[in-house]
Amino acid sequence: MTHALDRPLSQIRQTRQIRPSRRIAPFAESVWLVIDGLSAQRPDAIYYGSGAPARELIPVDRLREASAAAWGDGAGALGYGETDGYAPLRELIAARMAVLGAPADPAEILVVNGSQEGMDVVARALLEPGDIVLVEGPTFPEAVRLFASYEAEVVGMPMDAEGIVVDELPALLDALLQPPKFIYAIPTFQNPTGVTMPAARRQALADLARDRGILLVEDDPYSAFRYDGEDVPPLRAYAPDSVYLGTFSKTLAPGLRVGWIAAPRPLYDHLFAVKECLNISNDRVMMRTVHRAADGFLDDHIAQVRDAYRSRRDALLGAMEEYLPPRATWVRPEGGFFVWIDLEEEADTDALLERAAAGGVIYLPGSWFFPGRTKKNGLRLSFSALPEEKLIEGMRRLGQVLATG
Ligand SMILES: Cc1ncc(COP(=O)(O)O)c(C=O)c1O
Repeated sequence: MTHALDRPLSQIRQTRQIRPSRRIAPFAESVWLVIDGLSAQRPDAIYYGSGAPARELIPVDRLREASAAAWGDGAGALGYGETDGYAPLRELIAARMAVLGAPADPAEILVVNGSQEGMDVVARALLEPGDIVLVEGPTFPEAVRLFASYEAEVVGMPMDAEGIVVDELPALLDALLQPPKFIYAIPTFQNPTGVTMPAARRQALADLARDRGILLVEDDPYSAFRYDGEDVPPLRAYAPDSVYLGTFSKTLAPGLRVGWIAAPRPLYDHLFAVKECLNISNDRVMMRTVHRAADGFLDDHIAQVRDAYRSRRDALLGAMEEYLPPRATWVRPEGGFFVWIDLEEEADTDALLERAAAGGVIYLPGSWFFPGRTKKNGLRLSFSALPEEKLIEGMRRLGQVLATG
């Protein structure tokens, strides 16, 4: 008898029928497929898509030293264990959250492989097919795709220059056939709009969620990067029984894949069980690396890179003022990595993208950030990873593209 492994792979592919699960359908369409194709065709275009820290601002030397020291625990760190996370790292995270105004007990912190995994763990623990999840409209596309993959119906909430329009939520909630399983929100320097919910709105959202018994899931990757204005505490400060997702992806580096969930019990225990079956634990050497790198360093590092990002934001906003025609409007972000541009209601930034790329500039079309891709007249610019001269030149180019229709 011929064993399957004795046959060439090409034959096995032909004989096996691959039937993808319903669950992966939302993964098939992605803005990155469109953008990667376009960037490959137009390598000289200025690319405003990256939501990552600038490479030159990643503290590589500090991380290298921390990594070497992390191996000091030897085989002690190389067995299974620490599903909840390396204890000193959880303590460091808890201390940082207290400074933000959203204290959490280290025992309420679950270390995960970035907030993306945090979202997945929460979604696995909570979502049944047919559940409703409310998100900001627009929001982070990978959150929508992920929740949809658990067969949830993802519904956008109205937004304005101050984030979720909480006053309109009671009517939206009353119109739904069932209450949402949770509300997913990025209240601070939102991806993609850059807007921040003021304290009063956070309080109103927390009150509404409490009155209606709805769980809040707050995703907070960008709050360390405030360039001006007053700090606003996380939503968790107003709703201590909410779920908080944090990450070192923006403050240190995304490739480390270290983030966390802070969640109240008994939800925490469900999340822990999911994490255990998902991947047993985070990389234990990497958790030590991040702890050693961050301890006694992270605040100074953030203060330093914040100045660089502020200059980039200001360069971009200045160039937008100078070069973009009146049809483009935006809200000035007080922090984070993004600026969102709205064009007139009938505009279609998907259709415009090819022409923009031909004109030497690539942005992320806004439709990808709305559940169902319902709105087409916005676009996202990221300023974190581009030097100032490119940020300015790109706006000169975009201005020309927008001026000609
Ligand atoms: C709002 C939001 N959530 C989550 C993520 C993913 O972060 P992580 O690298 O921690 O998984 C990002 C990354 O861009 C983001 O913007």
